[in-house]
Amino acid sequence: SIGYFNGAFYPIEQIVIPIDERGHQFGDGVYEVIRIYEDAFFMLDEHIQRLFKSAKAIKLKINHSENEMKELIKEVVAKSALSNCDVYIQITRGIAPRNHLFPDAPVSVSMTVKPSKVINDSIRQKGKTAIFHEDERWANCHIKSLNLLPNILAKQAAFEAGCYEAILVKDGFVTEGTSSNVYMITDKTITTTPLSKHILAGITRIAVKEVATELGFQFVEKSFTPDELLEADEVFITSTTNEIMPIVSIDGKSIRNSDSKEQTLTVFKQFMKRVK
Ligand code: PDD
Repeated sequence: SIGYFNGAFYPIEQIVIPIDERGHQFGDGVYEVIRIYEDAFFMLDEHIQRLFKSAKAIKLKINHSENEMKELIKEVVAKSALSNCDVYIQITRGIAPRNHLFPDAPVSVSMTVKPSKVINDSIRQKGKTAIFHEDERWANCHIKSLNLLPNILAKQAAFEAGCYEAILVKDGFVTEGTSSNVYMITDKTITTTPLSKHILAGITRIAVKEVATELGFQFVEKSFTPDELLEADEVFITSTTNEIMPIVSIDGKSIRNSDSKEQTLTVFKQFMKRVK
């Protein structure tokens, strides 16, 4: 696998980041994960736009234009020679002696390209389990910030409970997963949490909204409680790496149609037409 750091390309295991890099010391930066299917970027423009929005929201000035950044990402992916891969892009406030104030330094850009973890049909057909977990994150979750400690702790809690994802709950309402958006299906209606500063505006979510409409579902953006989620016919999560994944139980309680997952799998099939 190949990596990139501030102008040079290296095998991933050879990249060394200076100790005074602000991503390392402060998590002072933003990131994106973009998927490539058969050499084609999935929703690249949307990811680039979100990257620049995140950067702007933390007053980080990227030296590249959106187009230059796109070309750079394409160059790194081409160098990897991988056709089905995930590119991770991280931009930080650069390298400077440790000081909380913004440094007068160029931003750092790093990337890694790795083969995508393909989720086979039997795994998706089986679905995944989840737990509810208090959303302990900050007030600006719409920014794809490097600071992921609450996400990591919640994901680890899910793992230790024998589950795959933690569904986060803030003030009695579901926000999102630790690294995914959350949806429920009831009576041909797909409901997901409305966009706000409390969740990340998922790129997969944009596609799911369009696909849902194509399939004749109502798509409703409205907050819901953990109890309402447990009452749904079907529950699923989405992300760049999971695509669309059925959730079959939460805190050990089965979701109604968790055996068939029929509607979720229909949405998944329609979604996959976009990547081929
Ligand atoms: N996670 N919500 C959170 C908190 C996320 O971290 C992610 C993505 C999503 C889904 O966004 P998208 O559909 O654009 O991937 C929602 C990435 C994949 C990650 O952190 O690895």
